[in-house]
Amino acid sequence: MKQDGKLRGKVVWITGASSGIGEQLCHACAREGADLIISARSKTKLAGVREQVLVHGVRIAVLAFDLEKLDTLPNKVTEALAIYGRVDVLINNAGIALKDWVTATKLEVDRKVMDINYFGPLCLTKGILPHMLERGSGQLVVISSLSGKYGVPKISSYAASKHALHGFYETLRSEIVNSGVFITIIIPGIIQTEITAHALTGDGGNFGKVDKTFQRAYPADKAARKIVRAFLAKQEEVFVGGTEGITLLINRISPWFLRRFIRNHPIKRLRKLKEFFSFKKPSGA
Ligand SMILES: NC(=O)c1ccc[n+]([C@@H]2O[C@H](COP(=O)([O-])OP(=O)(O)OC[C@H]3O[C@@H](n4cnc5c(N)ncnc54)[C@H](OP(=O)(O)O)[C@@H]3O)[C@@H](O)[C@H]2O)c1
Repeated sequence: MKQDGKLRGKVVWITGASSGIGEQLCHACAREGADLIISARSKTKLAGVREQVLVHGVRIAVLAFDLEKLDTLPNKVTEALAIYGRVDVLINNAGIALKDWVTATKLEVDRKVMDINYFGPLCLTKGILPHMLERGSGQLVVISSLSGKYGVPKISSYAASKHALHGFYETLRSEIVNSGVFITIIIPGIIQTEITAHALTGDGGNFGKVDKTFQRAYPADKAARKIVRAFLAKQEEVFVGGTEGITLLINRISPWFLRRFIRNHPIKRLRKLKEFFSFKKPSGA
């Protein structure tokens, strides 16, 4: 197995490693020679990922926990640091989506989304940061979303949690400039994962279906490789995905226009936009 080795000798801690982008990040980092700590709730799924990734010939430790249990997270940081004696890169990737109207979403569900997507990563970051600052090196990678830049219907607290990540990490970046610790914020577009199947509904249930758009979206393995390239290059903020990335430019030029464009059926509209820019025949869906 070929190893480029740009992460050889480094320890990378990946949350949300049991599926989707996180699982592919495990492969992408291992291919670069990194020793891994992989986290999510499901020990069984993590063990499966570990089996697959071991083929790259790196060390992999499983550290399962629930990000929603904020009180337990400082201990998890201590455990993570004890595994190899340090963490060079923390990839805060774990997250949960929300699929419901504001009026149908219970406050406890809003809070759950904020705990998993915002306060969880914040707790891990606060735990690991003193160690990175003391050593004068380290990287914090944060997986945000296009929803961290603008809102579309039925994802209210998800968008809020991703917007919050930008506020927090941009502030932190300004506080630790010249410390040797770098922050990379990743903005994935629409990536081929089962995120919508795992999404919460407003009453706390499970949405349970993989959205059609996500079935034909940007491949997760390609996204993972780009994410690794981005943090290796110490880029500050990078979009990863397909032609839906054009919405970031439109939002910068005219937020007014983007708001009107995505107001109704945003996913359908984004799909049409993708077809337009890739000169494909419209799917008619
Ligand atoms: N797919 C996309 O189009 C897209 C677009 C923009 C941003 N993103 C972001 O990319 C990240 C990864 O998403 P994905 O698409 O790969 O979705 P995914 O396949 O559903 O992966 C989510 C990961 O987060 C973990 N997780 C969920 N709740 C958790 C909790 N309470 N505690 C600990 N871990 C938890 C899951 O593992 P367990 O269930 O085992 O805990 C899983 O490993 C998320 O932050 C998401 O917001 C994805």
